[in-house]
Amino acid sequence: MSFPKIRLRRLRSSASMRRLVRETTLSVDNLVYPLFVREGSELKEPIKSMTDCFHFSSDTVTAEAVEVAALGIPAVLLFGLPDKKDEIGSQAWAETGVVQRSIKEIKKAVPDLLVITDVCLCGYTSNGHCGVIKDNKVDNDATCELLAKVALSHAYAGADIVAPSDMMDGRVKYIREALEENNFHDIAIMSYSAKFASAFYGPFRDALDSAPVFGDRKTYQMDSANARQALAEIALDIEEGADIVIIKPALPYLDIIYRARQRFDCPIAAYNVSGEYMMLNSAGEAGLLDKQQAMLEMLTSIKRAGADIIITYFAKDVAKGI
Ligand code: PBG
Repeated sequence: MSFPKIRLRRLRSSASMRRLVRETTLSVDNLVYPLFVREGSELKEPIKSMTDCFHFSSDTVTAEAVEVAALGIPAVLLFGLPDKKDEIGSQAWAETGVVQRSIKEIKKAVPDLLVITDVCLCGYTSNGHCGVIKDNKVDNDATCELLAKVALSHAYAGADIVAPSDMMDGRVKYIREALEENNFHDIAIMSYSAKFASAFYGPFRDALDSAPVFGDRKTYQMDSANARQALAEIALDIEEGADIVIIKPALPYLDIIYRARQRFDCPIAAYNVSGEYMMLNSAGEAGLLDKQQAMLEMLTSIKRAGADIIITYFAKDVAKGI
């Protein structure tokens, strides 16, 4: 009688067996939940382009932060939407800026919740670019100086981690120096090291009103076809002082996560961006798939590829569901 020598199905024969041999597990410990804050008070306005996401004001965001912490999620990532935008994005480093005020409120209400801040200018500039424009181009070094000011203003407000998302060359070095010179030795830099020029940021740009007014972001964000260059970007950021590196988006770039995991030892984060989030929400709402299952499958794939940390709008759903 002939029979298969190895029956891998034995390892799938019951829920307990599957649990016993499961190689990758999602944990709430490694999730980061993004939050959007804007000027005003008593606001909790639904964001039209992003299911179950809201614009908060600095007074209402604390209640949300308390809920996030109670769910066991260790960190939030703050994005600010100022009332007034200008050429250089000066509200981004204002002491009384909406992010700066929100950091203080959140740290007062839930001191143990890590506050990560997005360090970029695109939400603050009238042209929607991630830096200062000179001769119709984003000027790299002038932008780095402003980004260092933004990061420092977040550190003074009490941020635990700053996350530059602009893709200028050398910005991690500028930020690290500014932090060290001002005695912020313990503020971590979580750098968006391999950030691709992606169509998957669409819903987010609506939420932050940050789409570029002219041109696109292809002269600073990465070309989606490049993997070796992504590793070069990550290596540079680590050398300049990044503690954690981010690959963004996640799903179309799982190979980059995998390669980075083989090569680097620092924590790797993946940003499961707004377009990935809304793809599942839209398909779920249309009755095309089971959203909860698809969500777990998607997030598990990101972990399996090698990410330690996942930044995701699904963080609360995961925390409630697993
Ligand atoms: C800003 C920034 C972007 C995202 C995070 N920080 C968008 C962009 O480059 O336009 C996208 C996040 C998301 O889509 O969820 N530089």
